Amino acid sequence: MTDDQLLDLARTAAAKAYAPYSNFHVGCAIESVDGEVVTGANMENACYRLGVCAEQSALSAAQHKFGLDKVASIAVVGGADATVCTPCGGCRQAILEAAQLSGRNVEILCGSGDGSAVERHTIGELIPFGFGPGNLEPTGGTSAS
Ligand code: THU
Repeated sequence: MTDDQLLDLARTAAAKAYAPYSNFHVGCAIESVDGEVVTGANMENACYRLGVCAEQSALSAAQHKFGLDKVASIAVVGGADATVCTPCGGCRQAILEAAQLSGRNVEILCGSGDGSAVERHTIGELIPFGFGPGNLEPTGGTSAS
């Protein structure tokens, strides 16, 4: 799948966001090493702190469809203007989990809501010196589920 196709899927997913409180719609598409794709969108809650980010929604779908250790690339699109949407800190940590399981420096395409801008980052850039399953050997980093 091309970068543009993955970004388009993230954009389509953003249209399904449930974000009545922030009105900030985020979509995420994740492609596996075998070309399978899952998507997710943010899902807010009247108890604000219970909201779920688009990336974590998509990662949960990835866990079930092909396993976190098969995550190859991720596209995130959010907002409505020209500002690219980069994953929040919590989502970076969740992506780091998949990255360390797979041993891959997962690529993240970050798109703006208006479609005018895209930035490409690796998880290593977004969360340098991160703490992940590799820090918990031998219990961590050995399983995708
Ligand atoms: N949000 C995401 O879904 N992913 C991010 O990485 C950044 C923030 C959501 C959470 C909340 O529903 C809304 O965007 C505003 O913060």
